[in-house]
Amino acid sequence: MNLPFAMGQFCGKGQVSMSNQSSSPEEVKFSPREAAVDDLERLAALEKQIQVAPWTQAAFEAELQKPYSHTLLLTDDETDETVLGYVVYWLMLDDCQILNLGVAQSFRGLGLGKQLVRMVCSQAMKKGIQVVKLDVRKSNLKAIELYQAIGFTISSIRKGFYSNGEDAYQMALQMDGQALDF
Ligand SMILES: CC(C)(COP(=O)(O)OP(=O)(O)OC[C@H]1O[C@@H](n2cnc3c(N)ncnc32)[C@H](O)[C@@H]1OP(=O)(O)O)[C@@H](O)C(=O)NCCC(=O)NCCS
Repeated sequence: MNLPFAMGQFCGKGQVSMSNQSSSPEEVKFSPREAAVDDLERLAALEKQIQVAPWTQAAFEAELQKPYSHTLLLTDDETDETVLGYVVYWLMLDDCQILNLGVAQSFRGLGLGKQLVRMVCSQAMKKGIQVVKLDVRKSNLKAIELYQAIGFTISSIRKGFYSNGEDAYQMALQMDGQALDF
């Protein structure tokens, strides 16, 4: 498998407190790792639950075949099977593209989305890439807010970019070799 980094280079292991029904927080320890073929079914199932126009399992599988494409997962340490969040990104010559990002509903608002984007930016910087780009639905305010909180700005609008005719904002984060501060 094509691993662009050593796992120790990341923020490494993490822990989140999730409220359960009795309102006592449940601690979930998790770690980042690259996705493998065995993860694809679970990944596609999660994608189906949380995305407006979900990628198919075959679409995730196709990404695993591309040498410049990376699929990073946050999985629980106990089973290594529960996917808390994921990001698919391309490391190209001059720029990095985020193609897909998702966090499971019960793990939202805990900083995992931000952490996944941070990991992507950190990998891009290690390759000497200074700009990270992505497209986001104009209606996806949560995601737009997440990207803006990190420092992404809207660089253009792609009219009717999505299959339902919705416009996309193209957003970019110019890193210019500066340390990541999010
Ligand atoms: C968008 C998404 C990935 C955010 O994941 P998350 O783990 O909940 O995000 P974080 O906890 O890291 O939040 C980071 C920032 O995003 C913004 N944000 C997150 N959830 C938000 C919400 N419900 N409302 C407004 N802003 C929100 C905030 O600015 C937040 O920063 P703060 O915590 O300092 O206020 C998640 O909601 C998701 O998976 N959505 C469905 C799939 C999707 O839309 N993916 C993006 C495709 S481009």
